[in-house]
Amino acid sequence: MKVYIETMGCQMNRLDSELVAGAIRAEGHELVTDPTGADVLLYNTCSVRGHAEQKAHSRLAEQSRRKAESRRPIVIGVFGCMAQREGAPLLERYPQLDIVCGPGQLEAIPGLIAASANGQRRRSAVLDPPRNDPDGCRESAFDRMDMSRDPSLTTGPAQAFVRISRGCNRFCTYCVVPYVRGPQLNRDPARVVEEVRRLVEAGRSEITLLGQTVNAYRWRSGTTTVRFSDLLERVSAVAGLRRLRFVTSHPADFSDDVLEAMARLANVCPYIHLPAQSGSDAVLERMRRGYTRGQYDELVNRARAIVPGVVLAGDFIVGFPGETEEDHRASADLIRRSGYKNSFIFRYSPRPATAAAEKLVDDVPLPVKQRRHSELLAVQAEVGLAHHHQYVGETVEVLAEGPSPKAGKCKSSNGAGLSQLVGRTTGDHIVVFDGGRELVTQYVQVEVLAATPLTLIGKMAPLSSASA
Ligand code: SAH
Ligand code: SF4
Ligand code: F3S
Repeated sequence: MKVYIETMGCQMNRLDSELVAGAIRAEGHELVTDPTGADVLLYNTCSVRGHAEQKAHSRLAEQSRRKAESRRPIVIGVFGCMAQREGAPLLERYPQLDIVCGPGQLEAIPGLIAASANGQRRRSAVLDPPRNDPDGCRESAFDRMDMSRDPSLTTGPAQAFVRISRGCNRFCTYCVVPYVRGPQLNRDPARVVEEVRRLVEAGRSEITLLGQTVNAYRWRSGTTTVRFSDLLERVSAVAGLRRLRFVTSHPADFSDDVLEAMARLANVCPYIHLPAQSGSDAVLERMRRGYTRGQYDELVNRARAIVPGVVLAGDFIVGFPGETEEDHRASADLIRRSGYKNSFIFRYSPRPATAAAEKLVDDVPLPVKQRRHSELLAVQAEVGLAHHHQYVGETVEVLAEGPSPKAGKCKSSNGAGLSQLVGRTTGDHIVVFDGGRELVTQYVQVEVLAATPLTLIGKMAPLSSASA
């Protein structure tokens, strides 16, 4: 069968889709990139904002209509966070939908597809059972799919995501993630190292460790505790691993041992995605983030002092209940003080069952949210431009990831078989430069010639320095 998978949401979902794709391919099915003509349509969904769910619903509505009109026996499935949040009622809402599967039950998908296609069990909802695991460490098989993954199906030809934990215990008042992904469960460090080793052996030289709050990782076994910094140390020792990244970090869990490990371990990238969400203490408190803006500032200062050249990225929510103009200005000031490379800025979206949706009134009108959103984007663009400008004239190491998506539009300045490539620095800067396709997966030295708020533009330095 031809199977099409569309992925919405965060890196966790991207990784989950890769694991599902591997399991499906192992059954002999073919993965396709176009939904027309596919026999199986799978949607890996996100619930983090209303908009993400609307997108999934519009796909389900559209494909249900197509299936009802066509005479082909298409199988339609929905998995991921929205499948978990909405559950079996989705089957009632979409009579053409066959499969609803929670993010912790992905191993069931190949069997569910087979059952639906054979007409055995036409419609199923397989959802995550409630978990009660106060320690967050268990030997169970929740990472069996990670361990049996197909190393050829990764995010990039030289890059792979590796999960270190699932779920989240923080319950920020706006956030649906702890409800759909459950409490934090940590993986055995030996299994993480083994998975990384296999991926590096298969040519993946840049690994990104994933968790909702990676730095809250802890593994207890007997009397020893493996902290996140210890895990970084162990993973960084995998032979052939050139770059080690991690996302996302929670400011309240960021202890100096992690900063020190970043400074000490040469292949750990000096990049921290450190969502602040707001620069106002009153809003941070209502969000239940667990830190003040003063503590956040201190952390940024410590990071800059301990990790040379560290690059920071942020997340902000505008229009959280009760956010005043003064609160909003405090977020703009925090963006300026932190000097982020980039920030992801979102309009608050009340999520069912979260504390903010239940107890606080969504009282910032949409036009005000929209204005604050554009204002923060404008401040971030200014800060991002100044940040990227610092690198003009420098030579940076870039992992060439592939042809630049804009390459078709802006023609390469030089012919001779060169095309425009895009890659990233250790600090996660996007770099666009001219180079041949054979450089993809290679590390090259690029001299930075110009900067925009989100990218560096450069030219490859002579090859003699590329091997440095
Ligand atoms: N675990 C990560 C990311 C969680 S979701 C972390 O804690 O940083 C990614 C981002 O979505 C969050 O950082 C937040 O900025 C945004 N977000 C989460 N819930 C939201 C909501 N209800 N409305 C708007 N943005 C939201
Ligand atoms: Fe959501 Fe907060 Fe957990 Fe991040 S730390 S996933 S924002 S509850
Ligand atoms: Fe969305 Fe689930 Fe990720 S809600 S942001 S896909 S953990």
